Amino acid sequence: MKLFLDTANLDDIRAAAKLGVIHGVTTNPTLISREKGDFAAIIREITSLVDGPVFAEVLAQDAEGMIREGRELAGLDFSVCVKIPMTAEGLTAVSALSKEGIRVCCTLVFSAAQALLAANAGARYVAPFIGRFDDIGYDGIEAVASIVDVLADGDFETEVVAASVRSPLHAVEAAKAGAGIATVPPKALFQMIHHPLTDAGLARFMKDWAESGKEL
Ligand code: E4P
Repeated sequence: MKLFLDTANLDDIRAAAKLGVIHGVTTNPTLISREKGDFAAIIREITSLVDGPVFAEVLAQDAEGMIREGRELAGLDFSVCVKIPMTAEGLTAVSALSKEGIRVCCTLVFSAAQALLAANAGARYVAPFIGRFDDIGYDGIEAVASIVDVLADGDFETEVVAASVRSPLHAVEAAKAGAGIATVPPKALFQMIHHPLTDAGLARFMKDWAESGKEL
């Protein structure tokens, strides 16, 4: 399973990109609203920092507006993938933009039925939200597994991007559920690096080496 970073913060993207483990970045209107600068400038800057798709979401609620905004966003850089919410108007926009060859991610997906619709409309990606589903007492990972399952049976090229990932465990469970990609916020990504036994093991190696008096 590939990892994307779920943020619009340029410092966090730079820090994560340095690790060499990030294959794309996802943003949403909330994440963009937290950063300084205008939408297009932020997206352009992100595209210069990562190799891989950069997801930018439309703000219009009607299909015509989504299509117009989607074309504008896709025009910012070849790596931009347009995020469209899972609504009836959204499906019309997913279908129209996909037919134009624009990569679209259908976002705010919570069920296999919604994922099937998005895939049939031509979405390149579907993004089920794990954490937000857990928040209301459902099982977000189970939803991912069910979406992976139904899409595997069709002749779709739609990839599952597990979103609303809140912890390293969510990322691991999403991989086990068969998601091709998980988009992880910076905090969870950096948590994934650490393990107390790694830290203890490294400290022991350094201590033993120092006590031996040997040189490299
Ligand atoms: C998806 O691309 C969204 O940006 C994101 O994963 C939402 O996560 P949240 O539920 O933690 O806000």
